Amino acid sequence: MKRLFAAIALAAAAAASFAQGTSTSPAQGYPGKPITLVVPFAAGGPTDVVARALGQAMTRTLGQAIVIENKLGAGGTLAAGYVAKAAPDGYTLLIHHNGMSTAPALYRKLAYNPLTDFEYVTQVVDVPMTLLGRKDLPAKDLQELIAYLKANAAKVNLAHAGLGAVSHLCGMVFRQAIGVELQTVPYQGTAPAMNALLGGQVDLLCDQTTQTTQHIKAGSVKLYGVTTRERIKALPDAPTLQEQGLRNFEVVVWHGVYAPKGTPKEVIDKVNAAVRAALKDPTVIQRMSELGGEIVPESKQTPEALRGWLKTEVDRWGPVIRAAGVYAD
Ligand code: MLT
Repeated sequence: MKRLFAAIALAAAAAASFAQGTSTSPAQGYPGKPITLVVPFAAGGPTDVVARALGQAMTRTLGQAIVIENKLGAGGTLAAGYVAKAAPDGYTLLIHHNGMSTAPALYRKLAYNPLTDFEYVTQVVDVPMTLLGRKDLPAKDLQELIAYLKANAAKVNLAHAGLGAVSHLCGMVFRQAIGVELQTVPYQGTAPAMNALLGGQVDLLCDQTTQTTQHIKAGSVKLYGVTTRERIKALPDAPTLQEQGLRNFEVVVWHGVYAPKGTPKEVIDKVNAAVRAALKDPTVIQRMSELGGEIVPESKQTPEALRGWLKTEVDRWGPVIRAAGVYAD
């Protein structure tokens, strides 16, 4: 009998060790092929700049190419909807900004729920915005601009990247702050909106420093102010809108990385580790600091922190947007 028990125990141990040896965790071998990082706006624009800087550094850590796919349209909601429905295998990721939190109130028929249809990887970079005018706009500073807009509201237009874009949000906050209705012109990203501003086809654009710094430094646009509370290191001479009298005017763009709901935790952990490594990469640090982007502190570089922040932002913007009655059907 003893011998029988011993044989059974031996067989059980062998089975267990065989099972251990052959079981595969979802993250084993990941990534075994290139990863697509979906950007909701046009190539060359601010979100794309952050995505490409991260992607290059992540490629070095993961040993697989990070392919940037610009999926344009509907203020970033097409891209988010696409990723929400992609296979949850870690090969399709999304980078997005504040638009993740404003879309549920702005779009009555949103094809996804930002709070339930994703896995959350991490927050990445916060970016200030700048209010710009075309180079030959007659107003020299913010006070002159406000006077000019009050006198010429009907013929001035403001470019933006669609309902849900931060350029739209910033433009609306500005419009409300000065009490002037401006015509708006939508583009599929602020890269084409900036081209229109440089070409003089539009008058105003509120856009992120990750795209605007180079044009401000080159003197090819007029700068009316920065949207942060304090002046920023990348543009130390640029006054804030607050210090010029627009009290409480503050818009900061935050970015996060997402994966489709159901992506295994081990895969999310690997992507999170690669993004965190990218955020410590000297090339990324230097590029972001030149362009005014601030890498988020380590306490925000977790899935839980991104999920919590997104929920706070959804709760913050929902009532404001609904009260303003701005929405797309
Ligand atoms: C872009 O990348 O084009 C911008 O982030 C769009 C926007 O203004 O939200």
